[in-house]
Amino acid sequence: MAKPHVSVAIDGPVGAGKSSIARNAAKTLGYIYVDTGALYRAVGLFCKRSGVDIADASAVESVLTEVRPEIRLIDGVQHIYLNGEDVSEEIRLPEISMAASAVSAIPAVRAALLDLQRNMAETNSVIMDGRDIGTVVLPNATVKIFLTAKPEIRAKRRYDELCAKGVATTFEEVLSDLNTRDYNDSHRETAPLKQADDAVLADTSELDFEQSCELVCNIIKERV
Ligand code: DC
Repeated sequence: MAKPHVSVAIDGPVGAGKSSIARNAAKTLGYIYVDTGALYRAVGLFCKRSGVDIADASAVESVLTEVRPEIRLIDGVQHIYLNGEDVSEEIRLPEISMAASAVSAIPAVRAALLDLQRNMAETNSVIMDGRDIGTVVLPNATVKIFLTAKPEIRAKRRYDELCAKGVATTFEEVLSDLNTRDYNDSHRETAPLKQADDAVLADTSELDFEQSCELVCNIIKERV
C-alpha cells in the first residue's frame, strides 16, 4: 500500500518567517512547500488591476469567476499564476499585502480557494503555510505548528526584506501595516487567524533563521 501523504500546517501572523522557514524545512525533509497567502494575494492583485473596490464584498464576489489563480511547481519551486500570467513577484508589493488581507475576509473568496489548497495536500506531501491551515484547510494535518515572534521583531525582518528588494518604505510604516493586517486577519468572522488547539507553538523571537528552521524541522520529525 502507498504511504499516505504527510501534511504539515504552519500558521501564524505576518512576518513570523513562515514562508522562508517552511520553504527551508520542505527542502530538508523532501516535501512540497505551498504558500497559500499567494492565492489571496493573486485575488487582491486582480481586484487592484481591474479597479474593483476591495472594501466592497459583493463587488469582489461578482468578479471571482474571472479570477483563475493557479499554483505551478517549477523545479520544485512554487510560482503563482493569475489567469495564465506568472505574478510571483508582483504579488509581494506592500499594497498587494493589504489588498490580500482585505479580500481574505470575504467568505466567498475563502470558499473559492479552499479546494485548490486541499487538492495540493491530497496529491503531495506538503508543508503549507497560511492563517487557517490547521484550523480549516487541513484540520487533520499530520503536524500543526503556530509560528510567531514579537511584532517589532517581525516588522524588522519584513523591513529588511523589503529594503533588500529596493522597496521604498520605513520601519514605522512596516510595523503599522503589520499590526493592521494582523488585526484584520485575526478578527474576521470567517476562518480567523488563531492557533489550532492541537498546534505546537513555536516562538522565534530569540532565534535566528537557522535556529528557527532547526526548531521547525525537529517539531516535524518528532511527529511524523
Ligand atoms: O501570508 P501572506 O502575508 O502572503 O498572506 C497575505 C494575506 O492573505 C494575509 O494578510 C491574510 C491572507 N491569508 C489568509 O487569510 N489565509 C491564508 N491561509 C493565507 C493568507
